[in-house]
Amino acid sequence: MKAQDIINKYIEFFKERGHKQIPNAPLIPENDPTTLFTSSGMQPLVPYLLGETHPMGKRLVNVQNCFRAVDIDEVGDNRHTTFFRMLGNWSLGDYFKKEEIPWLWELLTKEFGLPKEKLFITVFKGGSGIPYDDESYNIWFELLKKEGFNPKEKIFAANATKNWWSRSGVPENMPPGEIGGPDTEVYYKFDDIEHGLNCKGDNPAWCECGKFLEIANAVFMQYQKQQDESFKELPQKNVDYGGGVERLLAAIENENDIFQTPIFTPTIKAIEKETGKTYQEHCPQMQIIADHLGGSVFISNTNIKPSNKEQGYILRRLLRKALDNFYSLGGKDISPIIHRIVEAYKETDPYLEKNFEEIKLTILEEEQKYKNTLANAKEFILKKYKVGDEIKGIAEISAEDAFILYSTHGFSPTQIKSLGYTFNDQEFAEKMKSHQSISRAGATKKFAGGLADHSEKTIMGHTATHLLHQALRNMFGIKLHQTGSSITPERVRFDFNFDRNLTPEELKKIEETVNQKIKENLPVHFEMLPLQKAKEIGAIGLFDEKYGQTVKVYFVGPKTKGQRPYSAEFCGGPHVAFTSEIKSFRIIKQENIGKGNRRIYAVVGN
Ligand code: SER
Repeated sequence: MKAQDIINKYIEFFKERGHKQIPNAPLIPENDPTTLFTSSGMQPLVPYLLGETHPMGKRLVNVQNCFRAVDIDEVGDNRHTTFFRMLGNWSLGDYFKKEEIPWLWELLTKEFGLPKEKLFITVFKGGSGIPYDDESYNIWFELLKKEGFNPKEKIFAANATKNWWSRSGVPENMPPGEIGGPDTEVYYKFDDIEHGLNCKGDNPAWCECGKFLEIANAVFMQYQKQQDESFKELPQKNVDYGGGVERLLAAIENENDIFQTPIFTPTIKAIEKETGKTYQEHCPQMQIIADHLGGSVFISNTNIKPSNKEQGYILRRLLRKALDNFYSLGGKDISPIIHRIVEAYKETDPYLEKNFEEIKLTILEEEQKYKNTLANAKEFILKKYKVGDEIKGIAEISAEDAFILYSTHGFSPTQIKSLGYTFNDQEFAEKMKSHQSISRAGATKKFAGGLADHSEKTIMGHTATHLLHQALRNMFGIKLHQTGSSITPERVRFDFNFDRNLTPEELKKIEETVNQKIKENLPVHFEMLPLQKAKEIGAIGLFDEKYGQTVKVYFVGPKTKGQRPYSAEFCGGPHVAFTSEIKSFRIIKQENIGKGNRRIYAVVGN
């Protein structure tokens, strides 16, 4: 079966059950500073899971491109990837467990024809002050009994590490405001894999050797963490289902290695050809190359460039790790592999083919930079240790120099070792520890305030960006539009296309206009409008392609007959009710971020 067939079947299945398909959201999230990448289908839906009205209704379905940076070091086995496509269906306060569970079973066993005896279930056994999900257990119990199984042999329970889902993981790690819930997962059992020696695999949730593959995860989003660390039931009970296309395909084909399914085999073949080595003998390296280059292709297709910051840093890390593995297998030219990856996805993601040259350029430029970095590191060592041209002669370098290679030249300790150097691990670890505590202090500060996109300050900042956007367009014309934004309780960041820096006078004028609109205490409200109507009234629709026929438009300012309010913009919310809640708006910085884009930083609420 092809990935595209799986996607079509899945979407059809849920459409037949009253779901509307929502588009694949951008890989780089908008208005969500808490995370660098879209890593699950629910991420763009958080406002709606919390109760905002979704323009497409209460039953949604889609396929979402996802990237999980936390899994970079997991890649190198039969089932982990950083980039994957997630099938998702949601109930926004509509149906719940007793509908979702039987549908899921029907989907997997009837639509996709998975043998029932190979499927195993896990549910949340309770913990962290949250009760056992016996409701899910009982629904599965009855269903499996009817199917002729002994349910006790099929259903397992596990704690929050395995059967609880939130964007921040277990309940203890969730910041106040974050939503989460117990989940029920379906595992596929591969008979041709034996449990590894140390695998605690009797309960599929704890299997670590790939014999059990998690193919489906239905989260029952029903809790929100409170300021006092307790959990409150959400006003609406939601379902958030997610399942990876790549893993489902492996189960359908009963192929115990996702890299041996049609999504990856053309790429693996290209890697074999370019390195002259076989997959059989070099599985982990080739899995890393295939996955990391795949992720790099999708990230390069956004406007992210490799750098030392945020998404750019992840892209750099992915590419360099892929290149290390590629070079170590004797590979020289990665272009054919990039080409194969784009080919493999062209049916589901045709824009990759259109942007192929640009994607390739981003990747090859970074490759060149990396080659220069390698050469500089080599020179640094040669100079320091004063040996002629032969680098291989030096085995032992000081921990200090190893740390310089790490912090200045960007090499991980493993990479330094693979370059042929040894150093005192303990001394190195100590240097690393003090370095990490400095950067951690920075990171904590950045994410302070928990779910940044729903704190009071963030909502104020969000409405302020609408005012800023309108003020800029009034001053410079409607060709100017937003190209990105990120809002935290600490500051507002707003990107837009403009080919020069604004003068201090212009910045002052913009700031004054926004403050004027705040003072006017304009009402903010939204309406659900047909797309055509929204366009007619001049609503700013930045991301048309990602909306359906009905759009949600936020208005700032009263509606008088025949006149457009001050601002009208497609947006999911949330916003303040009146602009005076924003209190004040102050621009603190302007930056040129390249490609004809400027960035403004501002603070609100002082
Ligand atoms: N949010 C859940 C996940 O990412 C289910 O969609 O697994």
